[in-house]
Amino acid sequence: MHICKAMMAAVSVAGALSASAARADGTVEVLHWWTSGGEAKAVGELKKAFEAEGGEWIDSPIAGGGGDAAMTALRARVVAGNPPTAVQLKGPGIQEWAEQGALNDVQSVADEGNWDAVLPPALAEIMKYQGKYVAAPVNIHRVDWMWANPEALKKAGVEEMPTTWDEFNAAADKLQAAGIVPLAHGGQPWQDATLFEDVVLGIGGADFFRKALVELDPEALTSDMMVKSFDQLRKLRGYVDPNFSGRDWNLATAMVMRGEAGFQIMGDWAKGEFLAAGKVPEQDFLCWPTPGKGFVLNSDSFTFFKVEGEDRIEGQKVLARLIMSPEFQKVFNLAKGSIPARTDVPLDDFDACAKRSHADLLAAIENDTLVPSMAHEMAVPRSVRGEFLDLVTAFFNSDMSSEDAVKQLAAAIKRAQEN
Ligand code: GAL
Repeated sequence: MHICKAMMAAVSVAGALSASAARADGTVEVLHWWTSGGEAKAVGELKKAFEAEGGEWIDSPIAGGGGDAAMTALRARVVAGNPPTAVQLKGPGIQEWAEQGALNDVQSVADEGNWDAVLPPALAEIMKYQGKYVAAPVNIHRVDWMWANPEALKKAGVEEMPTTWDEFNAAADKLQAAGIVPLAHGGQPWQDATLFEDVVLGIGGADFFRKALVELDPEALTSDMMVKSFDQLRKLRGYVDPNFSGRDWNLATAMVMRGEAGFQIMGDWAKGEFLAAGKVPEQDFLCWPTPGKGFVLNSDSFTFFKVEGEDRIEGQKVLARLIMSPEFQKVFNLAKGSIPARTDVPLDDFDACAKRSHADLLAAIENDTLVPSMAHEMAVPRSVRGEFLDLVTAFFNSDMSSEDAVKQLAAAIKRAQEN
């Protein structure tokens, strides 16, 4: 509770007022990867707010969940000397672009809105480069969630949501026996890596997750615990349908909505999809943390690239101010499935899944079981993440043994670190 209370005390009335008082008259071209139903609805809220301030919004969506295609497009734009004004970026990626001198800071906006007082300190750190804010966070997503269709579970005789991976496997076996796809999944590297990291948290716990997926400790990477994690991933492979390869994540969510599949393991942007389709939490769908104790953190943020022209620089400032306004953080996150990055936005109008996410986040901070997502670019540099994704996907799509997987993984990570 402590963080929340301390932050509540610091509600920045001045920040809220300045957000609505400023006129934009600026222009932003915004590069993002929010193209699914729920995502588009959420980013539409930002566009609406920006235009309401008199600004011009040029939308540059790059389809592809998880943002890998967007990051490729971004590099091409920067190399061509024509970066977008604002870019959805996160984690170490923010630091990498800042180190290259590609980003403008928005420290004056952060001072005015007192961002330090309203953001969890760990998140604020990620947004800063050399002590100055170069990014503005929109949300806190949780990666270790599973989504379920209650009707499908009932048909299969699954009475309770699983709290261990063994229970998950038992529930999945029942679904399979009932002719229902146990696990809706899209075979794309970032989705495979999402399953993998949730399994690592559940099998090994938060300390192990940190050692292996954040600190890249060779012993942890080659440990029995890692072998066990791959064994569970192999089990999950047996629970997906034959057409999983290349499927977009939101189409996997739709399988759960239709009752074709029992579960999906995916971050809470999946909730945005259910909501955009008019589904009601705890009625049409269930949310439940994946087996394991902790919270896998993913936070989206926008950065501001070095661009020419008063109009565009003004646009960056207005966008930064809007992103951090309590009003925006509320409407955006109600649509996105996440919870606000600001700690002082009341959650009264949020659903039970969001409230659980918030409570579990506070508990994870308290118990030191909060871990940053490897799959969603919060933990390690892109080059290292790339090695994880390649190996996990190769494992998922072959009959590689778990023992071989850990050996190859440790070797690949070592190579990436040496480069
Ligand atoms: C994540 C991102 C989320 C969500 C998801 C699927 O990396 O943080 O906001 O959109 O990708 O595209």
